[in-house]
Amino acid sequence: MKIVLRIGGSVLGSPPDPEVVEGYAKVVNQLNSEGHSVAVIVGGGDVARKYIRSAGEMGLSPYQQDTIAIHASRLNARLVAMKLGGVSSVPTSVDGILLRLARNRVAVMGGLKPGITTDTVAAVIAQRWSADLMVKGSDQEGIYTADPRTDRKAKKLDRISYDRLSQILGGSHKPGIHSIVDPVAVSHLLASRVKLVVISGIEPRGVISAVHGERVGTLVT
Ligand code: UTP
Repeated sequence: MKIVLRIGGSVLGSPPDPEVVEGYAKVVNQLNSEGHSVAVIVGGGDVARKYIRSAGEMGLSPYQQDTIAIHASRLNARLVAMKLGGVSSVPTSVDGILLRLARNRVAVMGGLKPGITTDTVAAVIAQRWSADLMVKGSDQEGIYTADPRTDRKAKKLDRISYDRLSQILGGSHKPGIHSIVDPVAVSHLLASRVKLVVISGIEPRGVISAVHGERVGTLVT
């Protein structure tokens, strides 16, 4: 299978937690040994958001805030890439990562361009690569009927359609946006009909369960 693994920066830690990175490295290696190819897309996390805040307070534009946050995600991506096999640079374009995926069973990337999030980077890659599955390791157990951090009545969903998910999410881009899945990414995944599973990212082995078709997190189809 062709798998896009999106590791939320909020899951990785700021700076990245060595145990979490190690956990994901083991998962990617296992998937490779099972014959799967994996595109790993890493987010910028709290460090990115802190840079966005100070850039904003300095009066820099949203474009500049995004630009600085992209560097944070690339720094995280490079660390993950090194742990996965000593890659000394990460691609900065969709063509760049597709070229690596044509040669290797694994490639790692961070942000792409201002105005989006790494969810959308992952979704665009999934679309261009004709991926079979995208898995997002998030800071929640899956997708809920509402934001569980603010709504105590929110219920976790085992399965949801892309149409229903778009209704729950709504919203437009703003630097540092924190959404369980970026709505722009959802529209790309819907267009390309790539299946998405959102899991709790602090348990990297959940990725294996998702790939094996076991019930974990929330399945979006
Ligand atoms: P990320 O997408 O790196 O967030 O976006 P994250 O830390 O993984 O988030 P969670 O864990 O899913 O919540 C951080 C910010 O970086 C900018 C945007 O401002 C985004 O909100 N960004 C990131 C871009 O502008 N372009 C990109 O391609 C990626």
